[in-house]
Amino acid sequence: MIRIGVVGGGTYGESHLTVFKDLEESGEVRLAALAEVKDDLREKRRAQFSIPVYADHREMLDKEQLDGITVATPDHLHHNVAMDILDRGVHCMVEKPLDVTVQGCKRLIAKADEKGVLLEVDFHKRFDPYHIEMRECLLEGKFGEIEYGYAWMEDQLWVAADMLKSWSKDSSPAWFLGVHMYDLVRWIMNNPAPVKVFATGCKKKLLSMGIDTYDSIQAQVQFSNGASIAFHNCWILPDQYEAVVHQGVKLVGTEGILECDSQYRGARGCLKNDRTKTWNLGIKYRARDKHNRFRFRGYFQSSIADFAENLLFLQRGGTLAELEGLYPSGKEALAITQIACAAHESIQTGNPVEIGA
Ligand SMILES: NC(=O)c1ccc[n+]([C@@H]2O[C@H](COP(=O)([O-])OP(=O)(O)OC[C@H]3O[C@@H](n4cnc5c(N)ncnc54)[C@H](O)[C@@H]3O)[C@@H](O)[C@H]2O)c1
Repeated sequence: MIRIGVVGGGTYGESHLTVFKDLEESGEVRLAALAEVKDDLREKRRAQFSIPVYADHREMLDKEQLDGITVATPDHLHHNVAMDILDRGVHCMVEKPLDVTVQGCKRLIAKADEKGVLLEVDFHKRFDPYHIEMRECLLEGKFGEIEYGYAWMEDQLWVAADMLKSWSKDSSPAWFLGVHMYDLVRWIMNNPAPVKVFATGCKKKLLSMGIDTYDSIQAQVQFSNGASIAFHNCWILPDQYEAVVHQGVKLVGTEGILECDSQYRGARGCLKNDRTKTWNLGIKYRARDKHNRFRFRGYFQSSIADFAENLLFLQRGGTLAELEGLYPSGKEALAITQIACAAHESIQTGNPVEIGA
């Protein structure tokens, strides 16, 4: 049995809580506690999940015997919470991005190494079956050498303007969306180092609404395998657009091309009191279990559940060394933060930015 806690009970923290609560049915996982700073959310989640809810994650660490904790605080507030968790020798999964500074990522990686604990990052695009197949094709040599590619992830406006209103100014399309695709493409290509980034960004729509952050960021990233990939990210698609997230990836190599529409999976329709929509049934769909209960499935679930699986593997005597390369690690996440930092720097300076070791 492993006991898991969550820090941050907002929109995505609710997903973490739901996944671990559902996993309790296995008899091997216990959703043990939550830490959340907002009073109203604490009450809501306590009632919803019937767990102890703390105002301070350090009190949760003191009072609960936890094997692992996931961090679902806003992008720029991951570091200190994750550091406290790792410092207590507790395994940790952090929402993407690991941190919004390169030095912060390095400190977290060093702390996890010092304490001998798992540091995982929720890069869930790696758990999409379509993307997994792309990577397998690459590993089998069916692409040849990747030369160029294109990846896009674009959100409807309400995400930055409403859902994340309190902190979208502290994030950006690169931090909130770009990192998913930087990681996905790099992972498919078997993790080459990023070497150079040239990026442009626009501030118009959100700025006009009083939110000082980029509407869109385009980054051209060169990797050590010689591939040059264009990443397009924005969070200003009209709210009437056919999906909350428009996303996909295309890679072209010396021997092949693969293109994946990671949004439109062939499910399209118009239902009562709604407009025409397409559904990404890869990320989330409802399935009934043998007790006729709804259970959410899809790659958002697989990715969060992977943390619990890793903890069970370790509890049964497996080692961190055996897990290496089999989960999105803190070390891999460092390269992604390097790309995002370089993209922001390139926008500021107007010049390409080289990424050092
Ligand atoms: N993997 C994905 O696809 C995905 C999707 C959405 C969001 N996210 C990530 O999840 C994270 C959270 O996003 P969100 O949409 O849930 O944001 P949110 O604002 O809805 O929730 C964040 C919560 O953290 C709480 N919080 C902040 N500091 C805290 C602290 N020190 N201790 C306890 N609670 C604290 C806030 O009160 C808030 O309730 C972000 O890093 C975001 O990028 C990931």
